Amino acid sequence: MDHVSVGLLGFGTVGTGVVHLLSDDQEQLQQRTGCPIQIEKILVRDKDKARKIKLDDHRLTENVSDIIDNPNIDVVIEVMGGIDEARHYILQALRNKKHVITANKDLMALHGSELLEAAADNHCDLYYEASVGGGIPIIRSLRDGLAADRIQKMIGIVNGTTNYILSKMSRQPVSYQEMLQEAQALGFAEADPTSDVEGLDAARKMVILSHLAYSIPASLEDVTIEGITRVEQEDITYSKKLGYTIKLIGIAEYENELIDISVQPTLLPAHHPLASVDNEYNAVYVYGESCGETMFYGPGAGELPTATAVVSDLITVVKNLSLGITGHHIFLPKLKKQCKPAEAISSQ
Ligand code: NDP
Ligand code: HSE
Repeated sequence: MDHVSVGLLGFGTVGTGVVHLLSDDQEQLQQRTGCPIQIEKILVRDKDKARKIKLDDHRLTENVSDIIDNPNIDVVIEVMGGIDEARHYILQALRNKKHVITANKDLMALHGSELLEAAADNHCDLYYEASVGGGIPIIRSLRDGLAADRIQKMIGIVNGTTNYILSKMSRQPVSYQEMLQEAQALGFAEADPTSDVEGLDAARKMVILSHLAYSIPASLEDVTIEGITRVEQEDITYSKKLGYTIKLIGIAEYENELIDISVQPTLLPAHHPLASVDNEYNAVYVYGESCGETMFYGPGAGELPTATAVVSDLITVVKNLSLGITGHHIFLPKLKKQCKPAEAISSQ
């Protein structure tokens, strides 16, 4: 293998971070993988848009076929977002025997099993570390590091945008709308931030974590979901006076053969370790039967932390390629347990 060629679907917040990391220190990357990595093509909607990183024109394309059907490309990195197009492109890339890395939690929560099966059928790798917890290596920790344990419970702050808004509002009276705009400007929020503030993004991440931890076919319908849109400055101020902090908390718990998954604004005592997780930072507590408690903490969103997760997946794929073991590690869950039905949240 004299080099590995990469095609990028998307050149927004995360795509820019990936290009930055891949261009920044090629020597270190080559030392870690044993092989140079080249970006062959990048898919965008609009080639003429001003970009943070300037590239030769020939590398940008508005035609996805230049990447997913390109015989020179070995690995496709999907950082464009959305569901239907992204699913279609990834399936096509896998059929064309390209390894795939994605940061797309919406897609993995909805179609993860189908995509992992397609990867296995085509003897390709499919990694998705950036889909939960931004720069925190929580996916590989559940898949590999804690594989020997039986997970009882996971409690997490898994959405950076809402944590940013809530922690800013708890420090001083500021407007919810202004803080959301700040989170958008910093690149933390989704293209449509409704999924962040309504708790859907966190719910999708809890579905992905539950899939890995419990080997269940969880779906969004199994999750009791309430976002932060009804939390007011007054609630935050009074909670603080009483020694509590409001956080958007995801819980996935195994009890009586059922997995109970929820995402809800929750009052945490100020001394609780999750109460001090601020701004866009995320944290996930994992309780395992044998290992006990482990906690994973770090930046949950943003250009470079998320790109670090994506490029780390790429390094794994390149190592797998050089060892000839791509497509052999894929985790295909055995569907043993069930989810508890979600509760309806009253709109009052
Ligand atoms: P952005 O909106 O910043 O970037 C999306 C990029 O994809 C843009 O370059 C856009 O092109 C391109 N694109 C989108 N749709 C199409 C299409 N149909 N055809 C061609 N190009 C397209 O998104 P982010 O970088 O923030 O997020 C990307 C993915 O990563 C999402 O799945 C998101 O959920 C996930 N993610 C994001 C994190 C973050 O902190 N931002 C953290 C973890 C995961 P153009 O530039 O021309 O508009
Ligand atoms: N919009 C997401 C968040 C990006 O705020 O957490 C990281 O997945």
